[in-house]
Amino acid sequence: MAPSAVRGPAATTVTITGAGGQIGYALLFRIAAGEMLGPDRPVRLRLLEIAQGVRSAEGAALELQDCAFPLLREVDVADDPLAAFDGCDIALLVGARPRGPGMERADLLAANAGIFGPQGAAINAVAADGVRVVAVGNPANTNALIAAASAPDVPADRFTALTRLDHNRALGQLSAALGSPPDEISGLAIWGNHSATQFPDVSHAVVRGEPVIDALAARFGGRDTADAWLDDIFIPRVARRGAEIIDVRGSSSVASAAHAAIEHVRDEQAGTAWTSAAVVSRGEYGIPEGLVCSFPVSSDGGGYRVIEGLPIDDRSRARIDVSVAELVAERDAVRALGVL
Ligand code: NAD
Ligand code: LMR
Repeated sequence: MAPSAVRGPAATTVTITGAGGQIGYALLFRIAAGEMLGPDRPVRLRLLEIAQGVRSAEGAALELQDCAFPLLREVDVADDPLAAFDGCDIALLVGARPRGPGMERADLLAANAGIFGPQGAAINAVAADGVRVVAVGNPANTNALIAAASAPDVPADRFTALTRLDHNRALGQLSAALGSPPDEISGLAIWGNHSATQFPDVSHAVVRGEPVIDALAARFGGRDTADAWLDDIFIPRVARRGAEIIDVRGSSSVASAAHAAIEHVRDEQAGTAWTSAAVVSRGEYGIPEGLVCSFPVSSDGGGYRVIEGLPIDDRSRARIDVSVAELVAERDAVRALGVL
């Protein structure tokens, strides 16, 4: 059973689906410790699981109580989406079937389409008016699209999908190549789908005020060598990092994914000048309206907005188009399943 409620000031209700799973376990304690919403915001956690996962979520709830987090007001475990999303302010949609060795994320479309529709409908019915939702479970972009389509009364721009992990992966690779700490690098962008077609774009990035492309040219002994490193090493490594982790660990990324999800929500709520997130396209950069596509984004604390007006060269455009074509194909496949 869930620990009993503790009285206290108004708390933010955070619903985590798949809370009994790996990422859920890596998320819950950090959220309860205030790492996502800050040290001044009490939280109420609602953990959604399917029947097989309920005991695991209940165990996590017991451990949460044993941590006696000062900000944690209440923990509930449910296997009913209407109970779990009741009054929800922030939803992290994690529960899904993870990818195994040899599978592409798109293989998961059919398996997961039936999860995110009903959850979107429950959010529509019982969540708080200002609810914000991030899809983590794969295929994340299209799962967010499905959830948004199933919640017609919630503005679509409240639904996002996680590409912050890809952003952080790109930052980690650049940091290692340039020998500069990650916080000295800004202006990176992930475009497109959270999949192997994504485009990690350094063309707007700077390191200590210098264009990253110039720093890479200095590091690799010329612009051609730097371009070859980007094309042959950096982009495929970032885009296929999820598969690399699965290959090495034997299961998909957990702590880095949870960390990225916490940063995604934290920056959306607290504000940021620049990061990457998958948001509902309003036609920016010619990307079809309604697709949940990763862009460079900023937030003033009221939700992510696409950073517009960046120059896009032909090579970048071609890479973006490939990933957007995959998103269109996923959307069409879901339509064919009758879900959208
Ligand atoms: P996991 O198998 O450990 O946990 C998933 C949990 O979801 C399980 O406990 C399961 O019982 C639960 N679940 C399944 N269907 C559910 C439903 N309808 N409602 C509520 N809960 C449900 O998997 P994990 O390692 O925690 O990964 C979760 C998802 O996150 C996977 O889809 C994985 O591919 C994805 N992922 C995304 C990113 C990203 O960057 N977007 C990164 C890593 C993992
Ligand atoms: C990741 O990027 O690590 C996750 O999306 C898991 C996966 O299937 O690659």
